[in-house]
Amino acid sequence: MHRIAVFASGKGTNFEAIVTACNNAELDAQVVLLVCDKPQAEVVAKAERFGIECFAFNPKEYSSKEQYEAQIVELLDRAEVELVCLAGYMRIVGQRLLSAYGGRIINIHPSLLPAFAGARAVEQAIEYGVKVFGITIHYVDQSLDGGKIIAQRAFEYDGNDAEQVHRIGQQIEHKLYVETIKKILK
Ligand code: GAR
Repeated sequence: MHRIAVFASGKGTNFEAIVTACNNAELDAQVVLLVCDKPQAEVVAKAERFGIECFAFNPKEYSSKEQYEAQIVELLDRAEVELVCLAGYMRIVGQRLLSAYGGRIINIHPSLLPAFAGARAVEQAIEYGVKVFGITIHYVDQSLDGGKIIAQRAFEYDGNDAEQVHRIGQQIEHKLYVETIKKILK
């Protein structure tokens, strides 16, 4: 059974999809740790409900990224994590974490990269006026959403309702993330 950590900052619907796939044995894996940089985020309560260990920290209480990432690396090592899945973790991964887990960290992003990297990807795409939206899963490196692409899925949408694009995109994300993790673990 493989050992996964999920990093998230928000609602945690992708976290939930991954945990559910593990619980259903759709994935031969176990989520052994949630890392969250917002102690009040919904995802923290979800981890509690599932009985998953959670490291919820406030970055402002640390003097640097290096310092909190050193603590995260310690927890990942202790939990013997093989794969780190960023799922709405709204922070740039730093050198400390990359040097320890580089090549084993993946991220899901709500656009067809390299278009619309960074925050507010769906809103950026709507402002640009695109008619094809999508989701990308990629390896994480020191660039902003620029690591090697693993999987992408596109969908057509003609309009300017960001909420609706998020809704359609998230349904795709939950399936695509589980499928992609399954392939990587193989
Ligand atoms: C997801 O839609 C993910 O694509 C996005 O955050 C959302 C988290 O939702 N990630 C990024 O924008 C990364 N740049 P969730 O908390 O419900 O899984």
